[in-house]
Amino acid sequence: MTDFPASAVDLRPGCKVNFHLDILRLREDGYHELRTLFVPLPVPGDTLRVSEGSVGSGLKFGCSDPELEGDGNIVVRAYQAFAKATGFAPDIEVFLTKRVPHGAGLGGGSADAAALLLHLNGRARDAALNNEQLNSLAADLGADVPFFLLEGPALAEGIGEKLTPVDLDLRGVSLVLCCPGVHVSTPEAFRAWDAAQDTAREKGTPFLTSASHEYNFPTSFGVVAIRNSFEPVIFERYPELRLIKEQLAEHGAYASLMSGSGSSVFGLFHHHDRAQRAAETMAGQCPKVFVHKFL
Ligand code: C5P
Repeated sequence: MTDFPASAVDLRPGCKVNFHLDILRLREDGYHELRTLFVPLPVPGDTLRVSEGSVGSGLKFGCSDPELEGDGNIVVRAYQAFAKATGFAPDIEVFLTKRVPHGAGLGGGSADAAALLLHLNGRARDAALNNEQLNSLAADLGADVPFFLLEGPALAEGIGEKLTPVDLDLRGVSLVLCCPGVHVSTPEAFRAWDAAQDTAREKGTPFLTSASHEYNFPTSFGVVAIRNSFEPVIFERYPELRLIKEQLAEHGAYASLMSGSGSSVFGLFHHHDRAQRAAETMAGQCPKVFVHKFL
């Protein structure tokens, strides 16, 4: 017996970083309207091994991190939502090997869910959903999931579900991604932003949307400022993240930014060897550091 059954397929979703994230306002339903530029990264990335299950078993789900097993996992919810929407519920086993750190602002769970949705939709034949239906089902699972149905960088508006593909020339750019051992809860990060907004309003002070200088990136959508509304509130709670941002700049990054609601922080470099040296130094203090060169 091999450990890779002939019928098994490995799905390899990546993750994302946000080159820009402006929180615009709190909506009545508790969600926030934003404008963000998502950029996909191939590493770190999880693996979902999908193999055939026994007849009538539906989905059997396992994970390399036992804490992430169970019906609450977004992969299980994606399977159930797809089955409910289409009636297509194949007997499969899915084993998720987790590599994308949780609570890091990298959208690992959302990427896993989108990968399974695309896989199921590809097999559903007559029951398959069209793009709009799949997008809407994805948005119900999580605000970042629709982005992972696409392939390239995209501007997201609304709560993250209104997507416009963006032409962003990143060729030759090296990205160093630092994942500290800090877990940031996204709902808490939004609540912290709400509280900071209320305080600023009471005091009549302008609200700081970015923690430091900005770098502007040309895109097909116009110039996009490298900045993130979450930085001021998250850096206040986790000063070590601000330090990582500053250290990346000291090591030669021409822009450095926290991704999503944190905790990961990335730096952009013109020279790959410089990026690699920075990554080696940062690895001394961050449990996980990744380098990616855009080709
Ligand atoms: O949709 P997702 O499960 O990724 O979002 C997690 C939480 O983050 C939501 O329950 C909500 O509190 C908050 N959120 C928000 N505005 C968004 C996206 C997420 O307030 N645009």
